[in-house]
Amino acid sequence: MSGFAYKNGIWQCEEIPVERIAEAVGTPFYLYSRAELLERYHALDQAFENIPHLVCFALKANGNLALNRILAEAGCGAEVVSGGELFRSLRAGYQPERIVFDGNGKTEVELRYALESGIYAINVDSENELQLLNTIAGEINKIARVGLRVNPDVNPNTHPKIATGLKKSKFGVDLCAALRCYEFARDAEHLEVVGIHAHIGSQIVEVGPFAEAMGKLIELALELQRRNITLQYIDIGGGLGIQYNAEIPPCYAEYIGALRPHWERYPVTIIVEPGRSLVGDVGNLITKVLYVKQTPVKRFVVIDAAMNDLWRPTMYDAYHQILPVRQTNGHFVADVVGGVCESGDFMARDREMATVSEGELLAIQSAGAYSASMSSEYNSRPLIPEVLVTGDTFRLVRRRPTYDEMMALEE
Ligand SMILES: Cc1ncc(COP(=O)(O)O)c(C=O)c1O
Repeated sequence: MSGFAYKNGIWQCEEIPVERIAEAVGTPFYLYSRAELLERYHALDQAFENIPHLVCFALKANGNLALNRILAEAGCGAEVVSGGELFRSLRAGYQPERIVFDGNGKTEVELRYALESGIYAINVDSENELQLLNTIAGEINKIARVGLRVNPDVNPNTHPKIATGLKKSKFGVDLCAALRCYEFARDAEHLEVVGIHAHIGSQIVEVGPFAEAMGKLIELALELQRRNITLQYIDIGGGLGIQYNAEIPPCYAEYIGALRPHWERYPVTIIVEPGRSLVGDVGNLITKVLYVKQTPVKRFVVIDAAMNDLWRPTMYDAYHQILPVRQTNGHFVADVVGGVCESGDFMARDREMATVSEGELLAIQSAGAYSASMSSEYNSRPLIPEVLVTGDTFRLVRRRPTYDEMMALEE
């Protein structure tokens, strides 16, 4: 099933016509399907078959508490990269022993918070961080469970801004330095070496790069074993893509299937940290057409959502399908733009799309990941609400702030 579909020409989320929700909450808003979310999580979980595993949802893709509560209740874990995300994950109900803390810029305060929270592991990004963690753990009389993020130097064939495992990337340590780090960690009084981590990039639509990275991690794990360092997990990160346009990403079974032959050489727990593939297609951004404006050279569909609600087109030239909530006849070519004072504020350029007119609703697809979580109040536009649908009911899971609330922390 899919959480979203047309029924009698009207766009629905599960069993509710989107127009009804728009009437109740106003536009724009993000709209999520609980059924779609659970279906995806279970599909991934089941794809592992007999492989011991931990799915840690990357909260950076979508931090909404209600959405995360659903995942936590289903048994999912969390991947966090800041103190705020750790706090959010605990508030959402993820069990600490299912949380991993990644990131290349963890502060002393964040490391201390992670240790005190008793999370599963901290994936450390450098030798300096290992040293700091050892000191902090000593100060509070804890043993830190650590993994090391390595840079496997694998090309994920994705947008350069979301390729994170190339040699020139800021993340992780190279495979040679990794041996030194592991030996330091093995001998450090307050560290327990438990794993290895890589994350090669995002929106990856072939299994090859994952298999290549996994192969390199396993080689390193075997080398560590020869040096009396045994790991409890191999964390291959996130990165599996979704279909935004014409790309055809592998399904979860293909993805895990590509990791399996490598895992068989070192059969410990596999951790995955999916963000986009779990929640990308769980959400739509629902927006209203304010104006259809014709200039001498172009037609513009001006909507009430803008780049501050969905940065991906501006940041990555990303494609998001745009559907009319009420099916129309005919097509035209237009730029779909928001009301922010930037020429880079667009959702689509020169897009052949359904003919729409003022007042009509549009559903911007695949807006469950890196949409609300990346949004900002640029141009003093309040963050927009999030709505969760369960069958034939819907509920506001983050309401629209007032202007006063938007300024509440200022003098
Ligand atoms: C360390 C790490 N893990 C997981 C993810 C999630 O990636 P994706 O949403 O592509 O699955 C990211 C994304 O940047 C990441 O940096």
